[in-house]
Amino acid sequence: MVRDDPNAPFTSHEQALARADQGVAEQAATRLDRWYPTFHVTSPGGWINDPNGLCHYNGRWHAFFQLHPFGTQWGPMHWGHASSADLAHWRPEPVALAPSLEAERAGVYSGSALTGPDGLLYAFYTAHRWRNGVNEDDGNLEVQCLATSADGIRFEKRGVVVGNPEGLRDFRDPKVWRQGDAWLMVVGRRSPDGRGEIVLHRSEDLLSWRPAGVLYRHPDPSVYMLECPDFFELEAPDGARRWVLCFSAMGARPSGYRFRNFNNAGYLVGTWRPGGPFVPEGDFRPLDWGQNFYAPQTLEAPDGRRILMGWMSPNGGALPTQDDGWCGQLTVPRELALGADGALRCAPARELEALWGPASELGALELAANEELVVAGDLAVGCVDVTLDLGASTAERCGLKVHATADGGFTYVGYDDQTRRVALDRLAARAGERGYRAAPVAESQLAGGELTLRVLLDRGSVEVFVGDGAQMLSAYSLPGPGPRALALVAEGGTLRASRLAVRRPRG
Ligand code: FRU
Repeated sequence: MVRDDPNAPFTSHEQALARADQGVAEQAATRLDRWYPTFHVTSPGGWINDPNGLCHYNGRWHAFFQLHPFGTQWGPMHWGHASSADLAHWRPEPVALAPSLEAERAGVYSGSALTGPDGLLYAFYTAHRWRNGVNEDDGNLEVQCLATSADGIRFEKRGVVVGNPEGLRDFRDPKVWRQGDAWLMVVGRRSPDGRGEIVLHRSEDLLSWRPAGVLYRHPDPSVYMLECPDFFELEAPDGARRWVLCFSAMGARPSGYRFRNFNNAGYLVGTWRPGGPFVPEGDFRPLDWGQNFYAPQTLEAPDGRRILMGWMSPNGGALPTQDDGWCGQLTVPRELALGADGALRCAPARELEALWGPASELGALELAANEELVVAGDLAVGCVDVTLDLGASTAERCGLKVHATADGGFTYVGYDDQTRRVALDRLAARAGERGYRAAPVAESQLAGGELTLRVLLDRGSVEVFVGDGAQMLSAYSLPGPGPRALALVAEGGTLRASRLAVRRPRG
């Protein structure tokens, strides 16, 4: 059992950051770019996972993220960093946090950031170490730490602010926000009786914190930990305000179309008054139905919009990009709203429009039964809008083949009339995982019998926004060599698409 002072440095933070920057640079120098993102946040090299400390500070957007700078596998965690003037174009920044205190010997884990009353940026994160000081065998010791910054780039460590008196093995991912005249922090934990819980802490000065009760206990006993909690208010169309509780649940078993991923991120909508428990009003809903989505975090934009970014997780498996010098990217920033049905609506942040040139409108298209029509010979990166006129189509499945290559590989995005779902299917993938995921399409999502899909393509990924944004699907899509075609396809019947518009990167 480790006994030393958790705030004692075991190395210089400056030197640890310099080594980390060097590690990233070495991998970036030999990186292969066949699947490396052009408009998604990632590191120039190495492994990344969860978004951390998402914020708008000193006039720029900041996305920090979990980073292993010395390899393309998960490893001792740092905070990597990218920033943006417009939320659409990101530039890499130096590594922001490296393990340097005893409490964080095995890594600086996920957390959040906000501007304090003194104008500094306050970053709260989990310090992680092994209980026996050597390896995972006896579990973790996790506490919450603070680091502050005057420029959003260089941080000064302020040490442990929330201890772990119960010695819980899982107690991490602080998310802090201003509530009335105090600050509150949600932290995920494995309770002493082994259940997934989210607890609150409260502070009047951002420095000294005290426990403020259990906000939520997961009802499923197989769910043993709730990672990356987030908690915020949104206004419903009728003007009523609701609280949204997001978390990434560990331990849920697959059930039909749900919980197919290694661990699963989603949300509850409900009511809450400070001092009381959160009372959910509906079921747990996935935030994204794709194979590669986990650990999302939100920020409140200066204009009040709630913006979310997730980690496109390899979902427990290997990702072929690991041979290319990098692994992992964040999703695009997504704006959240609450629908009249009490579920979230998500759209790519409006700032992303800056990425795209003028739309090439391909008009209304009619496909004969089983026809396939190539509409773009090479579209590695782009934004595709398609409206499927289901009322005027007889196809059993209809939609798009994206990233289709000469070797026969492609990723399928389309509507299945038998299951009434939108599928993201990688059966024909030539690299990486196969399999599919399918998101439900409620009757209310069909506008007069039409279903619209917005598909964002980057060199190695696809993100699908269904209808008015009630569902999303995100996955890696790792095409083979040569041009990457886009085709409209009908199976087992005819298809009428009332609109198909393709936009390519601007400039
Ligand atoms: C979620 C997570 C967090 C933790 C971090 C470590 O993916 O396990 O709970 O803080 O990743 O990298």
